[in-house]
Amino acid sequence: SIVEQYLQPGQQVVDATAGNGHDSCFLARQVGARGRVFVFDIQQQALDSTASRLRDQGQAAQVTLVYRGHEHLLDEIPATDHGHIQAVMFNLGYLPHGDKTRTTTSATTLPALAQARAVLAPGGIITVLAYRGHPGGQEEAQDVERQLQRLAGEGLQLSVIPSPGPVLFVLAPERYD
Ligand SMILES: C[S@@+](CC[C@H](N)C(=O)[O-])C[C@H]1O[C@@H](n2cnc3c(N)ncnc32)[C@H](O)[C@@H]1O
Repeated sequence: SIVEQYLQPGQQVVDATAGNGHDSCFLARQVGARGRVFVFDIQQQALDSTASRLRDQGQAAQVTLVYRGHEHLLDEIPATDHGHIQAVMFNLGYLPHGDKTRTTTSATTLPALAQARAVLAPGGIITVLAYRGHPGGQEEAQDVERQLQRLAGEGLQLSVIPSPGPVLFVLAPERYD
């Protein structure tokens, strides 16, 4: 994946939407035992599912689970780590196999993106996978694109990678589209 090229063992990263923990496991594997992954979700079910996946893969030790929205990212990530977060991944929408009405929304996603930008390390990357099929998904994807355009510059470029399903936004030193 694109994110993989940006990661080294020992780095600090964020999974802004735990869901069932696939991205958390990927990040934990990449940063290794000396790295740190901060994982956010507003549903206990998502954090439980993520924790059990991490345990199964022997990667729970380097992960901090935060039972709070990613719009509190600046508060929840220790100040000493601000400016040192190498990657922040967002996977928007609802929890697969969970409550389909509890989706991410622009009101919290947009401030979370600004906070992700604020904690990012020089040379770091933010990715946002946005689904457009559920109610509000299309509007949220448009809002995300506008917000990422605002946050681009100062060494970060926005790429928009479409697909028949979700759209992938990448804010990184390099372009991918
Ligand atoms: C599409 S899922 C994530 C899928 C996940 N990356 C995976 O690998 O399974 C979206 C998740 O975002 C969570 N969510 C919704 N609003 C949130 C918020 N404000 N902060 C953090 N997570 C939120 C939902 O509870 C849901 O678990």
